[in-house]
Amino acid sequence: MSPAIRPSRPRALATDRPSLGRARVAASILDADLGNLANAVRRVEREGADRIHLDVMDGHFVPNLTFGPRTIKALRRRTRLPFDAHLMISEPGRYIDEYLDAGCDSITFHVEIDEDIAATLRAIRSAGRAAGLAVKPGTPLTALEPYRGLLDIVTVMTVEPGFGGQAFMADVAKAKVLQARDYLAHKLHGAEVHVDGGVNRESAELVGGLGADILVVGSALWLKGRDMAREVRLIRSLADEGYQYVLNRGKPPTPRDRLVVFVTLPRPAARTLRAEIEAAGIPVLLFRSDQDPVDMDDEIRRWDLLVPASAEAATRARFARRRSALAARARTRAAAAAQA
Ligand code: DX5
Ligand code: ZN
Repeated sequence: MSPAIRPSRPRALATDRPSLGRARVAASILDADLGNLANAVRRVEREGADRIHLDVMDGHFVPNLTFGPRTIKALRRRTRLPFDAHLMISEPGRYIDEYLDAGCDSITFHVEIDEDIAATLRAIRSAGRAAGLAVKPGTPLTALEPYRGLLDIVTVMTVEPGFGGQAFMADVAKAKVLQARDYLAHKLHGAEVHVDGGVNRESAELVGGLGADILVVGSALWLKGRDMAREVRLIRSLADEGYQYVLNRGKPPTPRDRLVVFVTLPRPAARTLRAEIEAAGIPVLLFRSDQDPVDMDDEIRRWDLLVPASAEAATRARFARRRSALAARARTRAAAAAQA
């Protein structure tokens, strides 16, 4: 295939993907059949959950014991879903390399421990994974204060950690979930507030209306006779509905995966700008623009620079000037080339 007729933007993957909404469900496998976890993770994937939430308990930080890094590593091969590890253990720092090696995409541990918390957060982030801190119901969010700037995730626990199937603590959610975002203000894109404990079809709308990004759902998915896929869809849409009416003035939320064209530029300029925007923490995709003829030489043809819709305002605030300057320069060059 000649480069000139290589396919253009994969529309189905980028801008025109059917809306998937805002809220995401992380399925906890705590209440699955622990004798057949491989089947549990495959099932969760098949039934449409977005992530797998892995509750690690050491029988010390919490009065219960589950599984560790070797189990996670073994499960890693069974599914393509991202792994969110929730470490309810006293010494996450001591074992952090094993959890990184196991293939966790994010690692969240508790702020109530007696270790060097900042060092562990840094270790997670320097391995290219997302780092989070969880707070028990009785711990104030201000405990996160010293770790501002090091967090990708804040997990608000709405049950006492240790067991699935407990009742949702609505007062804790109301007091903390919205405020949790303050501790993630340093991130222009990709920050996540997780709500963990007692999330189900009864509590999902409230949780969504408090701006939670990730709803951790355990026992509600594994109840006998329930259709798991339907439960996942129901919880996601109830959360989006809560967001729409409480936080978004009645407008449906921007789908989390939607991309928008920020600017269309010749390839060298587009690449330069991509590097600058990505350095600020906002992911960028470049596609051959539909605005120029498909058979145009790639060196002349312009490229669309796409950013997540959710980060569009932040991108504009930081890079609108730069965008104008690069676009003006491109126009001058194109005019000069046309003259020659
Ligand atoms: C509790 C765990 C949660 C919980 C989720 O210690 O962190 O992930 O088990 O299960 P449900 O949804 O049943 O509360
Ligand atoms: Zn958990």
